[in-house]
Amino acid sequence: MTTAPAIETVGLTKRFGDFTAVDQVSLTIERGEVFGFLGPNGAGKSTTIRCLLDLIRASEGECRIAGLDSRRDAVEIRRHLGFLPSDLALYPNLTGRETLQFLANLRGGVDWAWVDELARRFDAELTKKVGELSSGNRQKVGLIQAFMNRPEVVILDEPITGLDPLVQLEFHDLMREHAAAGNTVFLSSHTLSEVERVADRVGFIRRGRLIAVERMSELQEKALRSVTLEFAEPVPAAAFDGVEGVHTVSADGATVTAQYEGSMGPLLRVATAHDVLSLSSATVDLDEMFLQFYRGEVEEADARAGAPAQAGGASDPAPASSPAERA
Ligand SMILES: Nc1ncnc2c1ncn2[C@@H]1O[C@H](COP(=O)(O)OP(=O)(O)OP(=O)(O)O)[C@@H](O)[C@H]1O
Ligand SMILES: [Mg+2]
Repeated sequence: MTTAPAIETVGLTKRFGDFTAVDQVSLTIERGEVFGFLGPNGAGKSTTIRCLLDLIRASEGECRIAGLDSRRDAVEIRRHLGFLPSDLALYPNLTGRETLQFLANLRGGVDWAWVDELARRFDAELTKKVGELSSGNRQKVGLIQAFMNRPEVVILDEPITGLDPLVQLEFHDLMREHAAAGNTVFLSSHTLSEVERVADRVGFIRRGRLIAVERMSELQEKALRSVTLEFAEPVPAAAFDGVEGVHTVSADGATVTAQYEGSMGPLLRVATAHDVLSLSSATVDLDEMFLQFYRGEVEEADARAGAPAQAGGASDPAPASSPAERA
């Protein structure tokens, strides 16, 4: 085992014809990290992952896994890697267990007591034919195969989508345990909320460009909160102009909603100059907040891609504009 980063891309670029799906992405992921790779549909998540695994060839740049070159050392890398593709294809006539046995024979080094433990934790149905499983239960077989040889680096393309909440929690625990043992988990997702409890860091890709990488703890620290105040009589939004920590304020008669960061104190002092009837507070959705922080970068990525400016973002639906299958 080397001390090289678990995953490294340098100037990774992938073009399909004259369309750039991944544009100069440079990313370093350390050992022991759970890294969330976020972006809307068509952002370039799967393309980045396919380049990392040498399933497709990068147009420019370098990819390394555990210090090994994705192209040159593709075979050696497989020994250190667990992978779940977004479009997992399994033999429909094999049972879950037969599928895992088949894959274990290819890879070697599988501890069946560990496989049984994973199956139990995920409540996986390994005796049914894969073709007869529900999509969530099929996904569990995919997750088990990704972790079954306790790989140093696990790359998972949208693993959470389709799992029920209890299985999601179990899966979160598994990822944390795996990382705590010094391994690395790289997972893609559409939304921050899906990975916020499990990721150490998140990177946000949009139209092929990596526009932000943030430590989850720092994001949570600067999380905006929202407070709704009911007054005895109408209070104008302007009453909160310039109050420390306050980002946005809207007033609707006697109801005022404000988003703020840090302490609620300054906001409260202004509010209590009026007759406050009630107050309710909530955390602003992290996805929304993330986009507020990176509005400039989002607009720049959109402008570079020659795309019309779009509202929303992390979870906004795909601009179905990409030239399909022009490889
Ligand atoms: N083989 C291909 N030929 C042409 N264009 C492609 C090809 N593969 C991907 N693309 C384009 O590259 C862009 C990025 O696609 P990618 O699959 O990486 O997105 P994604 O972030 O994984 O999205 P999703 O969340 O929908 O899975 C898209 O515009 C897609 O149409
Ligand atoms: Mg994808």
